[in-house]
Amino acid sequence: MSDLDIRSSRIPQDLADDLALCRAPAGEASTLPPACYTDPEVHALEEAVIFRRGWVGVGRSDTWQANGDFRTFEFGGVPIVVVRDGDGRLRAFANSCSHRSARIMEGEGTCARMRCRFHFWTYGLDGRLVGAPSMQRTSRFDAGDHGLPEFTLEERHGFVLVSLEDEPPAIDGWLGDFGDLHADWPLSDLVTTRRREFTVGCNWKAFAEVFNEYYHLPYVHPDSIDGTYDDPDDPDQVDGAFATQFGTTVGTGGLLDDTQDRALPAVPGLTGRPTTGVRYTWLYPNLIVALGQEALWMYEVYPDGPDRCRCAQVVCFPKATIDGPDFDDRVGDYYERFDLALAEDIPMLVQQHAGLRSPFARQGRYSYLEPSVAAFADWYAGRLLSVS
Ligand code: FES
Ligand SMILES: [Fe+2]
Repeated sequence: MSDLDIRSSRIPQDLADDLALCRAPAGEASTLPPACYTDPEVHALEEAVIFRRGWVGVGRSDTWQANGDFRTFEFGGVPIVVVRDGDGRLRAFANSCSHRSARIMEGEGTCARMRCRFHFWTYGLDGRLVGAPSMQRTSRFDAGDHGLPEFTLEERHGFVLVSLEDEPPAIDGWLGDFGDLHADWPLSDLVTTRRREFTVGCNWKAFAEVFNEYYHLPYVHPDSIDGTYDDPDDPDQVDGAFATQFGTTVGTGGLLDDTQDRALPAVPGLTGRPTTGVRYTWLYPNLIVALGQEALWMYEVYPDGPDRCRCAQVVCFPKATIDGPDFDDRVGDYYERFDLALAEDIPMLVQQHAGLRSPFARQGRYSYLEPSVAAFADWYAGRLLSVS
């Protein structure tokens, strides 16, 4: 759906009415309409309004270490390649060839140039077309006219964000007081020790939601992590495209209930309340970040149609911890905790999606343990309603 289509289309009135019920705090609001999780037309609207406008997170800066490191993405219906160029700068390009539009790069890796495997048009790490065989008889062909379109990319607090808009909103306004609310953690300095991708058979929003609510812990994680988490604080009032909530833990949120005695050191310099729990933050639309006393763990989530999402689990520690004794032995306990909780969540998400697909599914209400889910729904509904 082009921006022209968005302007000329209207959200059906019944969907607009349902979305309006989401524009309230958790205690007053209804959950998002089930159609938002399953309907291909809502999905197309979402691609245009949520993913081709504003800013979308693509993960942590340090996962592109060397010049030439690249990783491909697709969101908003747009194949994208993010690459560290010859000067060490991260850049985002349209991953469609300027010849006859084949997707150029696949997956991730390291490259000296980006070469389309169809007819070998070849692009530099700056997106310029630097090679195009057998084009010498083509009149008025100027390679300078056929580089890859570039998108705006910004890095803040160690996170990478891309906007597909010609004139994106100011990134610092988009993030608002995100920096202030996370100032206790040295976010930019944390080092990624693990990034792994997987797909889940549920809508991308449901995947993000389950990491931002405490309601399901006793029922889905009774023997793994529920015993660690106390009832959370009230959610922070924020100014920006995110929701955040801190909660204390018994021991650390980064380990299972039964490996609590194997904690790694706290983040150097972290003091006071942040050393006693976990801050869960949803940077809209698609980054979910947990800040514990000794680690950052997060998920990137990208829609793959309404019924599936591509996800990446990312874990980061301070360099001092990584360099410390026994890190390689002890980090495994952290990965085990993240993987086990995820393995408990995923079947529930698939089961939730099966229920959401019913034509008889309808909007529900929130517990006080789901304020960040309600805050996202409010933001999302506002973005969709802005086109109607
Ligand atoms: S489509 Fe890429 S070189 Fe032809
Ligand atoms: Fe969970």
